[in-house]
Amino acid sequence: MYPSMLPEEVKKRIVKLRQDIEQHNINYYKLNQPVISDFEFDMLMGDLLALESKFPQFADPNSPTQRVGSDISREFQQVVHQYPMLSLSNSYSDTEVSEFVQRVEKFSGETPDYVCELKLDGTSISLTYQDGELLRAVTRGDGEKGDDVTANVRTIRTIPLKLHGNYPAQFEIRGEIVMPFAVFDALNRERAEQGEQLFANPRNAASGTLKMQNSSIVASRKLDAYFYYILGENLQEDGHFELLQQASDWGFQISAHAQKCRDAAEILRYLSVWDKKRDELPFATDGVVIKVNSKRVQEELGYTAKSPRWAIAYKFKAERVATKLLSVDFQVGRTGAVTPVANLEPVQLGGTVVKRASLHNADVIESLDLHANDIVFVEKGGEIIPKIVGVDTLLRDPASASVQFIHDCPECGTPLVREEGEAAWYCPNEDGCPPLIKGKIEHFISRKAMNVDGLGSETIDLLYQQGLVRNVADLYDLKKEQLVTLDRMGDKSADRILDGLKASTEIPFERVLFALGIRYVGETVAKKLARSIKSIDLLKQADLTTLTSVDEIGVKIAESIIDWFSKEQHLQLVERLKIVPLKLESEIIQLEGSSEKLIGLSFVISGTFKNYSRDELKADIELHGGKNVSSISAKTSYLIAGENIGPSKLEKATQLKIPVISEESYRSLTD
Ligand code: IVH
Repeated sequence: MYPSMLPEEVKKRIVKLRQDIEQHNINYYKLNQPVISDFEFDMLMGDLLALESKFPQFADPNSPTQRVGSDISREFQQVVHQYPMLSLSNSYSDTEVSEFVQRVEKFSGETPDYVCELKLDGTSISLTYQDGELLRAVTRGDGEKGDDVTANVRTIRTIPLKLHGNYPAQFEIRGEIVMPFAVFDALNRERAEQGEQLFANPRNAASGTLKMQNSSIVASRKLDAYFYYILGENLQEDGHFELLQQASDWGFQISAHAQKCRDAAEILRYLSVWDKKRDELPFATDGVVIKVNSKRVQEELGYTAKSPRWAIAYKFKAERVATKLLSVDFQVGRTGAVTPVANLEPVQLGGTVVKRASLHNADVIESLDLHANDIVFVEKGGEIIPKIVGVDTLLRDPASASVQFIHDCPECGTPLVREEGEAAWYCPNEDGCPPLIKGKIEHFISRKAMNVDGLGSETIDLLYQQGLVRNVADLYDLKKEQLVTLDRMGDKSADRILDGLKASTEIPFERVLFALGIRYVGETVAKKLARSIKSIDLLKQADLTTLTSVDEIGVKIAESIIDWFSKEQHLQLVERLKIVPLKLESEIIQLEGSSEKLIGLSFVISGTFKNYSRDELKADIELHGGKNVSSISAKTSYLIAGENIGPSKLEKATQLKIPVISEESYRSLTD
C-alpha cells in the first residue's frame, strides 16, 4: 500500500496522523466544534490503522487507534496506589460546613482560600502520566489498591492519552468517570428493548461499564471524565485551583463549575445556588466538595486515618415529599420479573409531577410494612425513578390491611417462582405469558441477534394483539397484506419489515442460537457452542458431558439447554425455523484459493521475500492448512529462507536437520 515510503517517512506520517486525530477528538468531544466530517475522520483513522498494522514497529499503546478497544478478555491486575485513595468526611448542613471552616482556621492559624467543586456521582479513577503519556488507570478499589482498567479508560475520548504544554514529568491525576444522563437514558432504553436488566442509576452504569472485560463495549458506552485532584512531587503551583487550570491546559476536562471562595459565607452561597441548579446539569451530582486551596496549608492540616482534614463533602438532601398511596400494581416485565409499582396521589417533586413510584420487589414492600392508603414519603435520590423511602405510621388507619405481594402472574395466572438468592419473583410461563412471549420476540429481532430492520416493540405489540404472531417462527409467515392492516403501517414500512426478515436468513448459526433466548445462552456462550457443536440437531442431542466439555460451559448452562430442548413446542419451533430456512448449522468458511495441501506441516519463515511480505507468506501458509511457528524445533517441517536470513535460525535448522527451502520451492508445495 505504501511501496515507496521510507521508514522515517512512515513514522513521520504516523505521528502526524495521531496528532491530527487527537486534535479532531478534542474539537469534537471537548470543544463541541468539529472541523471535519465524521467520514473524513474515519478516513484519517483508517489510514492510521493501515499504517500501524503494516509497520508494527511504530505501534504505540497511546495511539488514538487504541481508543476503539479490543475484544480480548482479561482479568484485571491489582495495583497498589502510590498515594492511597481516601474518602471524604460528609456533612449535611450549613452548620457542619461552617464548623469545618472554623476547624481549618484554628488548626492552620490562617484564613486560607477554599475551592468549591461539584461532587460528581460516578466512579473515581486515578491516572498516572509519565513524560506526558497515560501510563496507567486504576480504580479506587479498597483505597489501598485498585484494579488496573487502563485498556478501558483509553477508550474514553475526553481523557488525553498524550498531554500538551508544560506538564510535570510524572504525576497522578484523580477524577470521576461519569455516564451523562443522555447516554444513560439511551443505554437503558436499549437494554429495555433487549429485555436486559436496567441500570438503577448513572453511577452503577459507569462503574459497571468500567469493569467490563471487553473494552470495545466500553468504547461504545460513551463514558466521560472530569478531574479534580493532582498529586506529584514537582508541581508548579501551590494552589489547587491554579493546578486545575494548568491541568486543563495539558488536556484534561477539569471539575466543572469549580469556584474559589474566601470564607464560609461564600461557600454557603455556592451550596445554595447548586442545590437548585444541579437539576440542569447533564450528569449526576450528589453534593459539593469543599477544599482548602493551598497545598502548603493542606499539608499542615494533614489527614485523619480515613480522610483529609483539608476537605469535606457536603451532601445535597434528596428531595422528599409526603403523599397518599392509592394502590399497588404488579407489572410483568419482558423477562418475567414482577415489579410492584405504587400509584400515588400526584405530587410535585424535583420539578416534575410524581404519580408512580417503584417498590422494587417483595422485600421492599415487607420492610416498609406498607398498608393500604398509607401516607408515604417519596424521594428522588440518585435513582431516576422516584422511590418510597418510608411510611408515616402515625397517620395510618389501624383498620387498613397490609399490602401483600401476589402469588400468581397477573397476566396469565401461572404461580410465580423465586430463585434462591434472587430478589425478584418471576412468571415461569415463557411460552404462554403475553409479556414474556413479546419479550422473546423482541430479543429475537434485536440488533445483536437477528437484527431485523423495521421491527420494534410497538409493532410486536400490534402483531401480538392481532393474533398474527405467537412465536418467532410466525414472523416468517407474515404476509404484506397482513402487515398493512396494522395501525400506522404503510406500504414502505411493511416492505422494510419483510426485507429485514429476509435478510435475517443470512445471519450465522451462532447468532440464531443467541436469538432463541435460551436461558443463560448469551452472545459469548452461543458463539462457543456454535463453534464446537456445529448444528442445532447436534445440540439437541448433546448430553450433559458433551455440553460441559465445551469451553466455559458449566452445568447450569448445560442443564438450561437440555431443558429447553426437552420441550415439545421448542422442537416444533426449531423444525419451522429449518423450513424458513434460517442458518441452523455452522458454516465452514471457504477462503478463495484455499487448499489442504499443507495440513500437518509447520513452517518457520526467516528473512525477506521477493513475492510476499512476511505477513502475506504466513497468511498463504494458513490458507493451505499449514501452521506458522516462530522458533525452530525438531517438529518443524520446513524453514523458508528469504534474503538476509538470520544466521542462528539457519544454524539451528541445519543442526536439527530441518529442510531449508526457498520461496520458490515453497510455492511448488502449494501449486
Ligand atoms: S476530592 C482526598 N473532588 O467523592 C480527596 N472528590 O467521598 C479526594 N468525588 O472518592 C477526593 N467529585 O470519588 C473530590 N470534585 C470532587 C469530587 C470527588 C466526586 C468523589 C470521589 C471521592 C469521593 C469522596
